Amino acid sequence: MAKKVKIAMLGCGAVADLYLPAFRFLQCAEIRAAIDIDLRMVQEMAGRYNIPQISNDASEAAQSDDIDAVIIGTPPDLHAAHAELFAANGKHILCEKPMASTVQDCQRIIDACKANGVKLQMGHMKRFMRGNQKVKAIIDSGALGKIFMAECHWDCAVPQLIGTYREQKVTAGGSLQDHGPHAFDLIRWWTGNDILEVSASIRSVHPNRPTEDTAAVILEHENGMFSCHHLTRISYGREHGQDTYRIYGTEGTLVVRNDHHFPTMSLESPEIILYRAGDCIQRFDTHHGWNIDDSVVMNFPFYNQLEAFCECIINDTEPRVTGEDGMHVLEAVIAAYVSSLKGMKIKLPFRENIDLTALFEDVKKRDAANLKYDYTIEPKAQPPLSIPEHFIGSRPPRTKETWSSGEHGLVGKVWLEGLMRRLRKPA
Ligand SMILES: NC(=O)c1ccc[n+]([C@@H]2O[C@H](COP(=O)([O-])OP(=O)(O)OC[C@H]3O[C@@H](n4cnc5c(N)ncnc54)[C@H](O)[C@@H]3O)[C@@H](O)[C@H]2O)c1
Repeated sequence: MAKKVKIAMLGCGAVADLYLPAFRFLQCAEIRAAIDIDLRMVQEMAGRYNIPQISNDASEAAQSDDIDAVIIGTPPDLHAAHAELFAANGKHILCEKPMASTVQDCQRIIDACKANGVKLQMGHMKRFMRGNQKVKAIIDSGALGKIFMAECHWDCAVPQLIGTYREQKVTAGGSLQDHGPHAFDLIRWWTGNDILEVSASIRSVHPNRPTEDTAAVILEHENGMFSCHHLTRISYGREHGQDTYRIYGTEGTLVVRNDHHFPTMSLESPEIILYRAGDCIQRFDTHHGWNIDDSVVMNFPFYNQLEAFCECIINDTEPRVTGEDGMHVLEAVIAAYVSSLKGMKIKLPFRENIDLTALFEDVKKRDAANLKYDYTIEPKAQPPLSIPEHFIGSRPPRTKETWSSGEHGLVGKVWLEGLMRRLRKPA
């Protein structure tokens, strides 16, 4: 049997639950260790996925001879230190997005991997979704003509994110830092156009959130194209993970919609519609296997991402998503924060050392002083739903959603709701 890459999972939070199920299907890798400072988390993950070794000490685990590579799934402000630690011990690195909290930390990660001769692949898993690969193939075919504009809507009022690092000041970012890298990377990869300039309006709409939760960002790209990104954690949409794109070309418009499922953890393909002159409409479907195992292998992005990571280690080739890719989009995220505060366009490359914690304080003060609106919404009784149960039951399956509770678009009756209430209490 060909050699399997022995992998450790560093950080046993939400993202570990997305990677670890893939190992059951991977021929080229095995999961050897789980590491987390929180022993309860690491024990739970190891039990759930049958992982032989556990540790709550990353420094000790990094020295293990039983590990070839690590998935870094800790909060972004720790990625650089963790990458340096594992690279120094000769371990290949699959680093989650956002690559880091600062551009300087991104550079540290790239330098550490180069200096130690290990592979560095960025966790931009959207590139490994079959639907998104189909979009790239359509664009590359020239069906849209010259692309002049792209649009992204990303509503992510997912209750599972409440209480994670995203709600803490220390990582110096919220919704845009979390999801901007995915959206920016996708548009850049689809169109092949680097980002040249950034302008943005950013808000902390939720009164007690220490980081930003809402952003509109305009990116100027190479080849005269621009892209507009709307992201928020406060949304009353039907679904909690709307992930919608429009790509406008001189000869066609491509619409990519994920309305009926949460794409991060779904095997469903997006709805992909190509409109061209003469009312020509084509719908594309990425298909499923005949059984669930085949469907996972064909459509699960974390499986495909891990397989690509193993291939670049085994065949000694360039990773399909590089550290430079991760740093480019993180630069655009930081530039968006600065653009919003200073009211100016920021050109890339943008490598200034920015104190993001201070910047967020300034944004909150500015918004409190300038905004005419009080975004606080008093909890009020919801009108009763007059929809029969069987109709609700026939809606497409999703995670733990029931219906919007009416409080900032967050869905009610979920296990983390109590955390949200605590967050909403005035300081
Ligand atoms: N690609 C995706 O779709 C996706 C989805 C979720 C998260 N992520 C990314 O994964 C990373 C982690 O996010 P999450 O949602 O899992 O966060 P989380 O808060 O759920 O989990 C982070 C884990 O890291 C552990 N940790 C903290 N400090 C540590 C240390 N010094 N050593 C070892 N473990 C430590 C925590 O105890 C926690 O269990 C982030 O970069 C995030 O953006 C990506």
